[in-house]
Amino acid sequence: MALYISYSTPTASVSCSTASQNSTISAPSLLKNLKFPRFWPWQKVKIGPMSVSPMGFGTWAWGNQLLWGYQESMDSELQQIFNLAVENGINLFDTADSYGTGKLNGQSEKLLGKFIREYQGNKQLGDNIVIATKFAAYPWRLTPNQFVDACKSSLDRVQLEQIGIGQLHWSTANYAPLQERALWDGLVAMYDKGLVRAVGVSNYGPKQLVKIHDYLKAQGVPLCSAQVQFSLLSMGKDQIEIKNICDSLGIRVISYSPLGLGMLTGKYTPSNLPNGPRGFLFRQILPGLQPLLNSLKEIAQKRRKTVSQVAINWCICKGTIPIPGVKSIKQAEENLGALGWQLSSDELLELDYAALESPTKMVQNIFQTRNIDDELILMAFTTDKIRKEREALFVERHV
Ligand SMILES: NC(=O)c1ccc[n+]([C@@H]2O[C@H](COP(=O)([O-])OP(=O)(O)OC[C@H]3O[C@@H](n4cnc5c(N)ncnc54)[C@H](OP(=O)(O)O)[C@@H]3O)[C@@H](O)[C@H]2O)c1
Repeated sequence: MALYISYSTPTASVSCSTASQNSTISAPSLLKNLKFPRFWPWQKVKIGPMSVSPMGFGTWAWGNQLLWGYQESMDSELQQIFNLAVENGINLFDTADSYGTGKLNGQSEKLLGKFIREYQGNKQLGDNIVIATKFAAYPWRLTPNQFVDACKSSLDRVQLEQIGIGQLHWSTANYAPLQERALWDGLVAMYDKGLVRAVGVSNYGPKQLVKIHDYLKAQGVPLCSAQVQFSLLSMGKDQIEIKNICDSLGIRVISYSPLGLGMLTGKYTPSNLPNGPRGFLFRQILPGLQPLLNSLKEIAQKRRKTVSQVAINWCICKGTIPIPGVKSIKQAEENLGALGWQLSSDELLELDYAALESPTKMVQNIFQTRNIDDELILMAFTTDKIRKEREALFVERHV
């Protein structure tokens, strides 16, 4: 099992209650008031030239009314989520220039910028925040300069001088191959101008990922990350191949939708669906998901964790950086508890199998570039390998 967490000297201090409180309260209540971070802040993962927490937070919902029911009245809770995350060592926040519906377009970037400016906690924690934004390959963005301008607009919205990771939101190779070169050159230009500290991609399939990596490398630009839909509900041959390629090329995999848009939290059932388009999607998938949800629940109970925490921890144990979306303080607190521990190899295997046996998978992003060569061979290899491992485990346990 690969856990890409580097440990350096523990320097974390435990924040406690204020001095005036301390002078009047008893020892047991002092202990109760000690606030331990949800995970050790020195557990950081390298991503290009930066160090980030082993999990980031995703902010697609922050401004999206259509899918996520966002209202501006949620902003003060979203700010509390941001502060809570930063205080607990989370320093990676994923966003995109397309996040925010209708007149709220760009809202997620704007909110992040506001929250960073108004953050009043530990200065060092505030200074280490990494914003990873994504630039949409809109059909009217046809030249490298238009992508540079898109990056400048994002910088205006977040009110920063430099973006942490500038990512291409999707590849146009499948439907507009000529635009693809403009995307790549745009990425090179924003890196050369110092507008972004590092560059990444999102929704790139295996073949296109290698191509862009090689192209950028020839221009002296390292590709630091590849964002892909990666969860127990979205684990197929593409994900495995992308992860292998990334490992061999030193690219970090960022797992988006690690909770399967909410299905892997265990709170939705065929008779309790979310409103809007998610309800329609979940209705197709949830009936076949019971074996996987049962495994998640069983492991969660044994571990005294929640289903969401187990699902996120699975992504970390697979050597990726999950970026779960969060809409409430309660969810943020719960998801922070996905850190600081790890599933055993037996538990991982059990979950891998349960996922493999789920008849319906998540719909893959239509922009994800695909690699259909070798598909069957790889599938056969993967399932056969997992089957053999599971059989061995079964024999070990029961025979
Ligand atoms: N590159 C891309 O194309 C792409 C695509 C999708 C997402 N992303 C990124 O990945 C991030 C995460 O993905 P996602 O937001 O699509 O889905 P996700 O992380 O799989 O699910 C997030 C949703 O699950 C629910 N939830 C989260 N934690 C929970 C908890 N502890 N208990 C109960 N419910 C909980 C919340 O929605 P409810 O409360 O409404 O159920 C939340 O908005 C996004 O925010 C975005 O930054 C990138």
